[in-house]
Amino acid sequence: MANLDWNNVGFEYIQTDFRFVAHYKDGAWSAGELVKDNHVVLHEASPALHYGQQCFEGLKAYRCKDNSINLFRPEENAKRLQKSCQRLLMPPVPVDLFLKACTQVVQSNEKWVGPYGSGATLYVRPLVLGVGKGLGLQPAQEYLFIVFCAPVGPYFKGGMCPANFVVSEFDRAAPSGTGAVKVGGNYAGSLLPAKLAKEQGFSDCVYLDPATRTKIEEVGAANFFAISKKGVFVTPASPSILPSITRMSLVHLAKEHLGLEVVEGDVFINALEEYSEAGVCGTAAVIVPVGGISYQGKLHVFYSQEQAGPITKKLYETLVGMQFGDLQAPQGWITKVS
Ligand code: PLP
Ligand code: COI
Repeated sequence: MANLDWNNVGFEYIQTDFRFVAHYKDGAWSAGELVKDNHVVLHEASPALHYGQQCFEGLKAYRCKDNSINLFRPEENAKRLQKSCQRLLMPPVPVDLFLKACTQVVQSNEKWVGPYGSGATLYVRPLVLGVGKGLGLQPAQEYLFIVFCAPVGPYFKGGMCPANFVVSEFDRAAPSGTGAVKVGGNYAGSLLPAKLAKEQGFSDCVYLDPATRTKIEEVGAANFFAISKKGVFVTPASPSILPSITRMSLVHLAKEHLGLEVVEGDVFINALEEYSEAGVCGTAAVIVPVGGISYQGKLHVFYSQEQAGPITKKLYETLVGMQFGDLQAPQGWITKVS
């Protein structure tokens, strides 16, 4: 295992040994290979650089008690990357190529998957770039599919400690824009709102629906859920949020493991008193309890500023237990890579 302070890894780039690169040219993807060089050389007129013709994914590899390594629902990331590619007129990466790349990257960087119990995981970052010369606004002729990885700890400082968020004045996505796909442009636009939120002492901002600005959509890097006072798991339904794989998993776990009613619907920003708990969820974020949300100058506190509510805690334990192989996950959720 690599020599890192495994209990204190943050969410920053740490160079690992191998990354996978495949090239799309003349209508076909190459087989791809592992390489050592962590730099990408691009033509100066690459559409990825000028017009944001690029998309990406994020998934994690988890070290289990028996030392084996799990990937969590990687086919879902493969399918979502295909949707992102289609939205930006990029050639979809075949699911098999995606899975092969992720598997090889984790296997060849096995020493960077933190020890069981440390809380550290190996974050796997696939990306597709439109490359080659192109000056007018047109899709690229050639593409690169790259998968690299880095050991990570919690994305939001404090992990399972409640974090406060502020409602942004900005929109993250347009009603029929690119919010539902994982493309870099969505994130470039969220840098300023996130900076402003952090300057005010918040972990990040909450975006409202761009059409009416009355309903919670998601935060910059994670989806949102809340538990109503009647015990219903509610998570926003919207065409402009990223369909989170973590949230899809929590919807299943809330129903099947916690026996909760689940509603994918509206969470009105003016009706937060209906909820006893709230959280954000994502691959990087895992689950972070939402302590409070600030809106129009007032902080609405959900369960507590100090600790997670009981349902959020149970969802976290169930999800993380499955990811690290301590609990039996539904069929097809876990791919063993080692
Ligand atoms: N929403 C946004 C904007 C994200 O960037 C992410 C991270 O991938 C998520 C939600 C969570 O999605 P997932 O659970 O698939 O990681
Ligand atoms: C993820 O959770 O995988 C993400 O892509 C969020 C990212 C902004 C770190």
